[in-house]
Amino acid sequence: MAPGTELADLAREAAGCTRCPLAAHRTHVVFGVGDPEADLMFVGEAPGRDEDLRGEPFVGRSGKLLDRLLHEELGVGRERCYIANVVKCRPPDNRDPKADEIAACRPYLEAQLRLIRPKVVVTLGNFSTRLLLGTDLGITKVRGRSYPVGDWHLVPTYHPAAALRSGGVVVAEMRADLIRAKQLVGWG
Ligand code: URA
Repeated sequence: MAPGTELADLAREAAGCTRCPLAAHRTHVVFGVGDPEADLMFVGEAPGRDEDLRGEPFVGRSGKLLDRLLHEELGVGRERCYIANVVKCRPPDNRDPKADEIAACRPYLEAQLRLIRPKVVVTLGNFSTRLLLGTDLGITKVRGRSYPVGDWHLVPTYHPAAALRSGGVVVAEMRADLIRAKQLVGWG
């Protein structure tokens, strides 16, 4: 079966998910968006308000920055990539996702990785980096290089919300991380 078909089946299943308490508060399950055969995948933390309302990841302020950096550093739009989150439902008041919520949602992310088979995964911020790299270290300690994980390379970088808060150096380091991802994908 084509990855797109299996991914669409999984998205339909996730749309009715009640595996954790976040199901009670959501407007939409924000499963993921993009090319089901993308070479480059981004993994964020959890949907915010805009994403919950639209049912699509990274459509608010953080997403606008991500789109801009993708365009400026890689010369591509989001449709060339696949974008997902560690948890697919919005935590109330945008609090951090809890360990049991991450554990309940993890099989969806693992299935997305298995079906899409990206060459490179850029983890945005601490939650996705810790989960996929299997580390307790924070993003500032691990970013600046890539890591082989199974069949793909993991490139950790800041969450765009941190870049919006901090500006300057953080944005510049994010740009450098995206260039590293671009080279690993073979786009330049
Ligand atoms: N922050 C995230 O981590 N994911 C989104 O989809 C939006 C904001």
